Amino acid sequence: MDSGQDTVLECRGVVKRYGALAAVDGVDFNVKVGECVGIGGPNGAGKTTFFDLISGLTPVTDGTITYKGSDIVGTAPHLLCHRGLARTFQLNSGFDDLSVYENVLAAQAFGRRSAGGIVLAHKADHEAARRILADIGLECIASEKVAGVSVLARKKLMVATALVNEPDIILLDEPVGGLTPPEIEEFIALVQRFKARGLTLVFIEHVMHFLMAVADRAMIMHQGQIIYDGSPQGLSTDKTVTEVYLGSAGIGGAD
Ligand SMILES: Nc1ncnc2c1ncn2[C@@H]1O[C@H](COP(=O)(O)OP(=O)(O)OP(=O)(O)O)[C@@H](O)[C@H]1O
Ligand SMILES: [Mg+2]
Repeated sequence: MDSGQDTVLECRGVVKRYGALAAVDGVDFNVKVGECVGIGGPNGAGKTTFFDLISGLTPVTDGTITYKGSDIVGTAPHLLCHRGLARTFQLNSGFDDLSVYENVLAAQAFGRRSAGGIVLAHKADHEAARRILADIGLECIASEKVAGVSVLARKKLMVATALVNEPDIILLDEPVGGLTPPEIEEFIALVQRFKARGLTLVFIEHVMHFLMAVADRAMIMHQGQIIYDGSPQGLSTDKTVTEVYLGSAGIGGAD
């Protein structure tokens, strides 16, 4: 068991049952400061449910989740956000009737960091909002209503709203799902830039090219359990992964 100072997140025996179904079935998972972990696995494997448990959206049936040394089971999502645990969603979220810029300000207002459990009241930090939009390549459409922007822009906006409060860890659920190959390349470059600055990141992704390009470590789930936790390079030769997750065709055809 690793509970050293450099461990941001530690999950032990985490279970989520929906009736007879164990959507997450005894998951042990650690994330260290500065690590970038890519989670894969077939549809229905329990990946999103696992994120929902970590981020407090769904109650845990059993097990422990420790974030920066504190037990967080039962903690509301907004309180976790105030403590620096941010996430994005598989389906595009965001306020369609607000502009891109206003969405970032909303994230800033509702997700801002707390000090000693108290959220500090402060005015909108326009400089930070502009900085994150410039950083992520959305400044040119900052004033556009979200309802009219592209899928790529919505995906980037979710990341921007998660990053604007400078989280200690960010969970991204399928950040490049639905994007074209050139857009995926753009996202790879973007994530690599944030990684280089020391961002601690866990993402779920079916697009193996993205996972292989950015993850330091890969974790594969199947039927609620971890079937692989190791180097991304080791995935293609792992018998269980190739049989269970990718079928006999091997990793090259996965997407
Ligand atoms: N609220 C719920 N009630 C009942 N069953 C649920 C609920 N949420 C998820 N499940 C079930 O739990 C299992 C895991 O679902 P989950 O969404 O976590 O999978 P996933 O790995 O994220 O899949 P995908 O790659 O398709 O997004 C599925 O069988 C799903 O039907
Ligand atoms: Mg999912």
